[in-house]
Amino acid sequence: MTTAVTKKFIQGLPKAELHLHIEGTLEPELKLKLAKRNNINIGQSTIEEVRKTYDYDDLASFLAVYYPAMNVLQQEEDFYDLTMDYLQRAAQNNVRHVEIFFDPQAHTSRGIAFKTVINGLYRATVDARALNVDAHLIMCFLRDFSRESARKTLIEALNYQDKIIGVGLDSDEHNNPPMKFFNQFTIATEHGLHVTAHADIDQKDSIEHIRELLEVIGVERVDHGTNIVEDPDLVKFAAKNNIGFTSCPLSNSFVSPEMKGKEVIELLNNNVKVSIHSDDPAYFGGYIAGNYSTFADKFNLTKEQVVTLARNSFETSWISDQQKAIYLTELEEYAKNN
Ligand code: ADE
Ligand code: ZN
Repeated sequence: MTTAVTKKFIQGLPKAELHLHIEGTLEPELKLKLAKRNNINIGQSTIEEVRKTYDYDDLASFLAVYYPAMNVLQQEEDFYDLTMDYLQRAAQNNVRHVEIFFDPQAHTSRGIAFKTVINGLYRATVDARALNVDAHLIMCFLRDFSRESARKTLIEALNYQDKIIGVGLDSDEHNNPPMKFFNQFTIATEHGLHVTAHADIDQKDSIEHIRELLEVIGVERVDHGTNIVEDPDLVKFAAKNNIGFTSCPLSNSFVSPEMKGKEVIELLNNNVKVSIHSDDPAYFGGYIAGNYSTFADKFNLTKEQVVTLARNSFETSWISDQQKAIYLTELEEYAKNN
């Protein structure tokens, strides 16, 4: 008989968060506060009214709510507060290490300077060291924007290379294959940046996009990417090359009732380094511990499976082998004593 993994065990489990969009942590409370600070009429004045606008059932309808909400982010202080609020929650979830996505083009396209965004985000990551959370930034290209826009964004980002550990790719995947950004990924890699990219679940060309990411672009991780189970050869490739897959059960549950749980378990059984994360927690109903427990409860995961998911998150993170060893020792100690 397997014993249920408790919420307490999951809460205390040391974790690495590798799939977290900072703009997706904009809670209704903060949205209202920033609207007031910046004199912006968002059309709602209570938390309940804001929550009612969070109504979507696929990637496109989600993004149609998500981008306009960012209008309340105007000043460096707003980006700082957004990030600091998130990092406090991360600390409560015992996230020991986090690699945070941000979407500069979602802000520069509405007139906010790149430096306003990055300085606010970065300053919060530095201050969060006092919370015992080690935080880093991943700059994402919006895949539904042009190549030229991505090129300019990367050039600007290279002025802040000490503040960014890697690049990613997000937003609307429909007819926006990874290869559209081949040049930007190549340049980023040449500058020593790490590379990951979204392959959202159940897209029109999911398998083709995953193949491009693994075989041509050479990403180190795929965000979501669970459709890979449809191609056993790609699964073998991913296992052999230690490619990380960052799955997000709660955001998946908005578009797929089984939250891709069976696929995650199949990847675990095939020794693929899959791990659990939160995507856009203010919009999908839970931070990382909530994602672990919802998945563990629904699929009766064993303690060993839960620990493997956390181990995979550290193993596929972008830190030195020495740092990994420290976190992994902490994790194994925790698993032994709890
Ligand atoms: N931006 C924020 N969340 C996203 C997701 N789940 N997929 C693609 N782009 C995103
Ligand atoms: Zn995502």
